[in-house]
Formats: sequence, structure tokens, C-alpha cells
Amino acid sequence: MNTNKVVLITGASSGMGRATAIFLASKGFKVYAASRTPEKLIQIENIHPIHLDITNIESVQKTIEKIGEIDILINNAGYGLVSSVEEVKEEQMQAQFDVNVFGILRVCKAVIPMMRRQNAGIIINISSFLGKIGLPLLTLYNASKYAVEGITDSLRYELSPFNIRVHSIMPGFFETNFARDNLVTNSQTFSENSPYAPLVSSLAPTIIKQINNGNDAQEVAALIYDIIQDNAFKARVTAGEKAKKFIPMKKELSDEDFERRVREYYQLG
Ligand SMILES: NC(=O)c1ccc[n+]([C@@H]2O[C@H](COP(=O)([O-])OP(=O)(O)OC[C@H]3O[C@@H](n4cnc5c(N)ncnc54)[C@H](OP(=O)(O)O)[C@@H]3O)[C@@H](O)[C@H]2O)c1
Repeated sequence: MNTNKVVLITGASSGMGRATAIFLASKGFKVYAASRTPEKLIQIENIHPIHLDITNIESVQKTIEKIGEIDILINNAGYGLVSSVEEVKEEQMQAQFDVNVFGILRVCKAVIPMMRRQNAGIIINISSFLGKIGLPLLTLYNASKYAVEGITDSLRYELSPFNIRVHSIMPGFFETNFARDNLVTNSQTFSENSPYAPLVSSLAPTIIKQINNGNDAQEVAALIYDIIQDNAFKARVTAGEKAKKFIPMKKELSDEDFERRVREYYQLG
């Protein structure tokens, strides 16, 4: 059992974060499950619900100081902005990166000194297969997940001297509350007068359907457990059907051939 190990999971109120909190608690980890609304968090043995707003550095620092010691950090909280670039609002762009990118950096900034003092630690970032693949209307979301991949790659060098491992998981589409609660749409892009209306009406329902028919979050929870248990685990790993289909294809094909395949698959013309 892993009774002495302390885990912090952000965005633990639903989906992959929730499944991971429950799974790791069942394996004996002491899990701090963080959310903006801790009332939504599950109350079971080994799970300690905590309030955390990853967009607020004071909230992050205070919460992490209160925990005192963290062995494993799982940066999972995130949402998706669906908008054309032409119509995106300044505050929507800022907010997307504030949560998905700067949120991770704020939590890392607060947790790394603890891990460095312990000379041990594991950081697992939940990115996306869209952290390696572009898609229209998801430019801001995909760019934020590309950034998460950059954070993982860079931190691996920066933190390995302190015995801190950094990994990224790139999930394909997963059946969580993401499509229902955490896709934020730009009203202008989604209006019938938008020049992007034909693209919205063809692509958006497909993506939503693929998320709602996606893989089970339990798969990510089990993968996180495997990463924790294996000191030699690879830097990044895919999860779910879509990621396993597209990421190897992206590696094998030229950019142009890959783009052609994505255009065909999503009927992007
Ligand atoms: N579902 C998919 O198909 C899919 C695919 C690839 C990657 N992902 C990524 O996987 C991660 C988990 O998503 P999920 O699918 O499990 O979705 P989910 O069930 O909707 O859960 C998302 C979690 O992120 C947190 N969150 C959302 N917006 C936030 C904000 N503005 N500030 C702080 N926290 C926020 C929420 O936490 P609170 O509301 O409790 O604060 C929630 O617990 C995300 O990073 C997502 O981008 C999802």
C-alpha cells in the first residue's frame, strides 16, 4: 500500500480528476482533491476535499502551504474554449491560458520547492491529444495544450537533478462532464451570422458526440497509477482511442499528409 504518499489533484470534482482521486484513495494514497467548489467533491476515506482556485496565486500558495507535503501532483483542471480566432474576445483568450497553462505553472511553482526539499516528486500533467494536433475553432484550447506539452518537456530537464519526474498524459476523447460543463463557446462564432457558421454546424456536433461517446475516465486513473509506480515510465503517454489513432499517425506522416487525413476525417474540405 502507498499509505504515506500524498497526492494533490486539481479539478477533482468530476471526470478524470474524480476517477483518479477515487482510484488512488482506494490504493492507499492520501489524496487532496482540489476544486473551486469543494462541496461537489466526493467524501470517502483517504480523500481530503480542498478549495483551490488555480487562477489565484494567493489561493494556490495558501492551500499548498496548508497541505505541507506533496509527493505527487496531478495537474488536471482545464476547460475548452470553442471560438474562431477572428471573433474571440480578449478576456476569453486570457482566461483559456490563465486556467490551462498559467494555472499549471502556478501550482508547480508552489509545489516544486517542497518536492525539491524532499529530493523526490512526480508531476503528471493532463494535456490532450490536441496538444499535438490542430483543429479549427479550438485554436486557443489546442494552443494551451501544446503549451502544456512544452511545460512537461522543459520541466523534465529542470527538475531531474532534484529527483522530480514530470510526465504528460494525452487523452483522446473521454466521456466526462467536459462537453456538458466545460466547453465555453463564443456567442459570435456560434451565431448564424458568423462566417464560421457552416464549420460550427458541421464540426461542433461531431466533437461533442465524440467526447460524449468517448473512453472511460477510469482508464486515465489506472494510467496515472502506473506512472506513479514505475520510476522508469516514459515522458508522455496517450490514453483512449482517438489519441492512439492520431498521435502515432502524426509522428509517421509529413505535416501535409497528416493534415490531409484530419481534413478527411472531420470533413474539413
Ligand atoms: N474529456 C475529454 O474528452 C478530454 C480530452 C483530452 C483532455 N481532456 C482534459 O482532461 C482534463 C479533465 O477534464 P475532464 O474531461 O475530466 O472534464 P470534466 O469532467 O469537465 O472536469 C474538468 C475539471 O476541470 C476543472 N475546471 C474546469 N474549468 C475550470 C476553471 N475555469 N478553473 C479551474 N478549474 C476548472 C473542474 O474543476 P472544478 O469545477 O471542480 O473547479 C473540473 O473538475 C482537462 O484538462 C481537459 O482539458 C479532456
